[in-house]
Amino acid sequence: MILSKHSLSPFIIGTMRLGKWGSDFSTKEYEEFIESCLNLKLKDFDHADIYGNYTTEHEFGQVIKLRPDLRKNLRIITKCGIKMKTTNRPEHLVKSYDLSKSHIKKSVETSLKNLHTDFIDLLLLHRPDYLMDSNEIAEAFTELKKEGKVLNFGVSNFSPSQFELLHSFTPLFTNQVEISLLQRKAFEDGTLDQCSKLGIVPTAWSPLGGGQIFKEARTESSKKIQQVLSTLGIKYKLSADQVLYAWLRKHPAGIVPVLGTSKIERIKTAIESLDQTLTHEEWYMLWEAAIGEEIA
Ligand SMILES: NC(=O)c1ccc[n+]([C@@H]2O[C@H](COP(=O)([O-])OP(=O)(O)OC[C@H]3O[C@@H](n4cnc5c(N)ncnc54)[C@H](OP(=O)(O)O)[C@@H]3O)[C@@H](O)[C@H]2O)c1
Repeated sequence: MILSKHSLSPFIIGTMRLGKWGSDFSTKEYEEFIESCLNLKLKDFDHADIYGNYTTEHEFGQVIKLRPDLRKNLRIITKCGIKMKTTNRPEHLVKSYDLSKSHIKKSVETSLKNLHTDFIDLLLLHRPDYLMDSNEIAEAFTELKKEGKVLNFGVSNFSPSQFELLHSFTPLFTNQVEISLLQRKAFEDGTLDQCSKLGIVPTAWSPLGGGQIFKEARTESSKKIQQVLSTLGIKYKLSADQVLYAWLRKHPAGIVPVLGTSKIERIKTAIESLDQTLTHEEWYMLWEAAIGEEIA
C-alpha cells in the first residue's frame, strides 16, 4: 500500500526495546504484544536492522513465520544504513554509515529474510551518510520498488538540507527525528517547517525522551518539567506521558510519535489521551520549564 499522510496510525510502535536492547521478549510475548497493538488499531511497527545488535527483526519475524495471517494486518517500517561494530557483524571494522546502493539493497534482502516477509512497507535511511550520493540512492529505491520489495521510502535524522536534496531525486514519505520536550531541535532547525511545506509526515523517535523525563529529577529544569507535568496532569486528569503526547500533538505539522514502551497498558494510555489538547499557553509553560528560563 502506498502510504499517505492520513493512512498512518496515530502512534507508531517502536520495536527497539522489545528484544535484546530492552524487554527481551520471548516469541510468545512478541506475538501477544503484536496482537494487542493490532486490537488497538495500531498497525505500524518501527524496526531497524541494527536493533538488538541485529537480532530484533529476526525475533519479530519468528512470529510472522508462525502466524503468517498477521502480516496482512500490520505495516513494517525498517531502517538501514548504520553499520555497527558487534560480534554479530565481525566484518565491520569501524562503526560507519553506508548509503551506497549495494549496502541498501543487501540490507533490505537481510531484513526481508529476518522478518519473514516479501515486502517492507516503509524503508528509512537510518542516518545520513557523509559520503552519500543521491543519484545512487534514488537508483536503489527505484529498483527496490520495481522488484516489489519496498513500497515506500523515507529517511531518519536528516537535516532539512539533506532531506531537500534527496527529496529532489526521489519522493520521501517521512523524516523520523528525535522530538520531545528534552530534544526540541526540530522546532527550530526547519525540520517541522519543511514537513509542513512539503506535506511530509514528521515522525518522532524518543517522544518521552527515552524515559529520562520520569527518572528522579536531578536538575532544576527537570524538577520544573515534572512540576508542570503534574499541574497539567491534575487539571486534565492525565498522566505525565499523556501530557507529553498532547504537547507533541499541538504542533500543526502533525507529529506522529514512535512509542518506545513495551507495556500494552502504556500504549492504551497513550490512545486514551488522543482527544486531549493543551492550550497555547500550557504548551509554552512546558517549553519554558524545558529551557529553564522565560523565552526571549
Ligand atoms: N530513527 C532513530 O534514529 C531512532 C532512534 C531511537 C529510537 N527510535 C525508534 O523510536 C522508538 C521509541 O524510542 P524510545 O524507546 O527512546 O521512546 P520513548 O517512548 O521516549 O522511551 C521509552 C522508554 O520510556 C519508558 N517509559 C514510557 N512511559 C513511561 C512512563 N509512563 N513511566 C516511566 N517510564 C516510561 C519505557 O519503559 P517501559 O517499556 O517500561 O514502558 C522505555 O524504557 C524506538 O522503539 C525505535 O523504534 C528511532
